[in-house]
Amino acid sequence: MQNSLKGRSLVSLADFSPREIRQILDLSHQVKKEKKEGLVQNRFAGKTLALIFEKRSTRTRCAFETAFGEEGGHPVFLSTQDIQLGSKESIEDTARVLGRMFDAIQFRGFQQEAVVALARYSGVPVYNGLTDVDHPTQVLADLMTIEEEFGRLAGTRLVFVGDGRNNVARALSIGCAKMGVHYSIVSPRSLFPDQRHLENCRSIAKESGAEIRVTDEIGPELSGADAVYTDIWVSMGEEAKSDERLRLLRPYQVNDALMARTGRKDSIFLHCLPAVKGNEVAVETIEGPASRVWDEAENRKHTIKALMLATL
Ligand code: CP
Ligand code: NVA
Repeated sequence: MQNSLKGRSLVSLADFSPREIRQILDLSHQVKKEKKEGLVQNRFAGKTLALIFEKRSTRTRCAFETAFGEEGGHPVFLSTQDIQLGSKESIEDTARVLGRMFDAIQFRGFQQEAVVALARYSGVPVYNGLTDVDHPTQVLADLMTIEEEFGRLAGTRLVFVGDGRNNVARALSIGCAKMGVHYSIVSPRSLFPDQRHLENCRSIAKESGAEIRVTDEIGPELSGADAVYTDIWVSMGEEAKSDERLRLLRPYQVNDALMARTGRKDSIFLHCLPAVKGNEVAVETIEGPASRVWDEAENRKHTIKALMLATL
């Protein structure tokens, strides 16, 4: 197969063409099937992966570590408590050193500029495992989960309800725009994503035909939705805004009454996790029959493995 992805970094899905995202999703379905059949190979044998974490993680860390390790690779976890980055050493110097020792680098942290600099200076593929403004590997898993459920992406409708300016809401708008998924953000006005980001997504969506919409009205946008998505109200690093967020977002909780507004019996519920049950989602919904959150979490691993197979 012709592969334009070899050697590439995933800083944002904005940098990948719909065809490249399709290639990763196809490979994700394949590696998931292989895993279920016990056909894990040794495709990362002799390779090393640096995993830099400035913020906590369960899914992203475990997906990278297990996907890489079970294929014979050697992942090395580096929290900023352990390495010089951030205290004594710049991101550029860290990138140049790690690039001499590792075949690839994953970064989770605050600044998008940091992951951009790592990709620029390391000379090896760099994967964005979440920043304040993006979470592209999450969106690969979300798209895979929608595709598993409905057999397609183009023309499906995804509605994100909650903190519309957070990393996950923003990353979804890019992924949906690329892949032709109609995407709406339902959020209080003060939490709308910035206009520039929206214009950028709408311009990407011209090619795929996706509609990208934003509203503070909870009802109308949900009608006919294939999937309803929410995320935590207070993202990592924003704890000081906790009281304000809870006050603003209380009416935007995803519960069974909100899910019923889709008017469909087969709509699914998605959440990147971790979830605060009783805040952004009611227990009845996350534990109910529409919830696909555990498949979605598992798909983090398959999509991340596919991303590394395609780029390494
Ligand atoms: N969804 C997600 O990124 O989870 P973690 O924060 O546990 O990695
Ligand atoms: N918006 C959340 C996503 C966690 C996976 C955060 O940044 O904390």
